[in-house]
Amino acid sequence: MTPIVVARREEAEIALAREIVALVQERHRVVIGLATGSTPVGVYRELARLRVQEDVDFGAVETFNLDEYLDLPSDHLQTFARWTREHFHAPLRISSERAHFIEAGIDGYEQLIQDAGGIDLQILGIGRNGHIAFNEPGSTRESRTREVELHPWTREDAAAAFGGLATVPHRAITMGVATILEARRLRVLAFGSRKAEIMKRVLEDAIGPEVPATFLREHRDLVLWLDREAAPKA
Ligand code: GLP
Repeated sequence: MTPIVVARREEAEIALAREIVALVQERHRVVIGLATGSTPVGVYRELARLRVQEDVDFGAVETFNLDEYLDLPSDHLQTFARWTREHFHAPLRISSERAHFIEAGIDGYEQLIQDAGGIDLQILGIGRNGHIAFNEPGSTRESRTREVELHPWTREDAAAAFGGLATVPHRAITMGVATILEARRLRVLAFGSRKAEIMKRVLEDAIGPEVPATFLREHRDLVLWLDREAAPKA
């Protein structure tokens, strides 16, 4: 897996947004897996801009969110469902019946993905501890959609958004590593110096559960964009 290193994150954001638009224009009905967090926000902003400027119709796009906190009220400001509605579905005019959210007690999520024909393109960020979605260290290659305990670093990283560590949930629900690897295209982004240390391990460590993002290296159609700050130093 050779990453594409860009001087500015906007270059990666534009490239990925362009790829998604090309898919949508070619096939119309496209299934996209959505990541949250600070990483993909620029891609979503660029898609919203392209919708207006180039009159792109995202109306037949179907989406599946990667993960969600547990033990939060459904209208809580920090739910990923709410976040993606605000940053993706609303600006792209995607109706609620095409937006699928993973939530507590949802047994059929994997089946829903299958029924939609599988995920065409999965957008991913990487946690400081090498997690993908909420597949924390220890998650196996075979793991599927399930409830998990959040790693201390994951909770720390979320603390600012929750106004303090005490209110960050301890549990979440996430697609598994196997679920993610079934997507036809994986498009991964990592920006900033706080990701540099883990990106070195993602690229160089032996593939295994200690750094779940190493499993991405087994995928046939993966593109990883890093900015210079996140790229391992030679
Ligand atoms: C979060 C999410 C992941 C995300 C990662 C990185 O907790 N569960 O899907 O990719 O951590 O977050 P950020 O993009 O804010 O660095």
